[in-house]
Amino acid sequence: MGVHFRSRTILVIFSIVVSVLCSINKVSSIPNTNTTSILCNSGVYTKGDPFATSLAYVLSDLEAITPVTKGYNYTNISPFPNSFAYGHATCNSTLPSIDCTTCLGIAIQSMINTCSNRIGARSVLYDCSIRYEQYPFDD
Ligand SMILES: *[C@@H]1O[C@H](CO)[C@@H](O)[C@H](O)[C@H]1NC(C)=O
Ligand SMILES: *[C@@H]1O[C@H](CO)[C@@H](O)[C@H](O)[C@H]1NC(C)=O
Ligand SMILES: *[C@@H]1O[C@H](CO)[C@@H](O)[C@H](O)[C@H]1NC(C)=O
Repeated sequence: MGVHFRSRTILVIFSIVVSVLCSINKVSSIPNTNTTSILCNSGVYTKGDPFATSLAYVLSDLEAITPVTKGYNYTNISPFPNSFAYGHATCNSTLPSIDCTTCLGIAIQSMINTCSNRIGARSVLYDCSIRYEQYPFDD
């Protein structure tokens, strides 16, 4: 009786674990991070320019907030007065939030690699996009 009860309990726990693992697997589908285009402004900022601080703020804010914003369409501005950075990011609205985060992380990394120290850049992947400039922009 005791042994029978214990093996049923183990079976129940086992099937709960399996179904949780399956649902996690279903939610985190892999985002399509194939690159559509990466464009760099030809202008560069110099090391020590306060724009570097503003840019770092804008990119990490876009990466953090876009995936928790309804519609995954988020615009921001750096808060520091001596040099402004303007940012915009989007994700494909069919993605789970975690995939939006993953996609933007890859978009930012490839933008930084391709457009290092540029005053403006844009990274468009299949499932997400990100752009920053020193001036306000619409798309
Ligand atoms: C990404 O691009 C590669 C090469 O063009 C292609 O083989 C692959 O199917 C694409 N991935 C997706 C998920 O579309
Ligand atoms: C994001 O929002 C802006 C302003 O409301 C709109 O013009 C733009 O089309 C939206 N972009 C996407 C990809 O939904
Ligand atoms: C968003 O993802 C869905 C599912 O993969 C795809 O059918 C759709 O074309 C994507 N939308 C855009 C704007 O890329």
